[in-house]
Amino acid sequence: MSFDPVAGWRAEHAYFGKLLRLLQREMDVFHAGERPNYEMMLDIISYLRDFADRLHHPREDVAFARLARRCPELELPLARLQQEHKVIAQAGETLRGLLAEVLDGGLVKRAEVEMAAAMYLVYYGNHIAREEEDVVGRAARVLDAEDWEAVRAALPAQRDPLFGETPEPRYRALRHLIATLG
Ligand SMILES: [Fe+2]
Ligand SMILES: [Fe+2]
Repeated sequence: MSFDPVAGWRAEHAYFGKLLRLLQREMDVFHAGERPNYEMMLDIISYLRDFADRLHHPREDVAFARLARRCPELELPLARLQQEHKVIAQAGETLRGLLAEVLDGGLVKRAEVEMAAAMYLVYYGNHIAREEEDVVGRAARVLDAEDWEAVRAALPAQRDPLFGETPEPRYRALRHLIATLG
């Protein structure tokens, strides 16, 4: 999250939303019986595993804990969202494994890829929507500078390997594609 933590938070959700839409687009190709861009799908899921699951979600966990203390009525929905971070990580790892296997030439059942991707897309899409609708605005109003500092300091700063100023080589093609989508 950047110096404006709320703007940074929303920006990351917008980035993840773009990636999920790209993933959905490839799944539409898959449903049409054609070969989707498995390499790009693997890049997307790798980024979401390596960046979102390791940085975005742990920071949210800190923000959620602080918000729950101030707004006890949010305790249960926040606990659910926190639980979903674990499910998203697990579902993402399953999908990453399947895609890597496909690219390795392994025999993977179509239905298996389909199930894993559908579950991931629906679950993650809903998760982000819940956070945007129920949590981010509330956190912006309730959390103070000290809270945001705790959120920031929860993890060492790490640059975004895809959406950062200079994307890492493995993500250059994906970054370029996203730029063309606007
Ligand atoms: Fe989250
Ligand atoms: Fe989030």
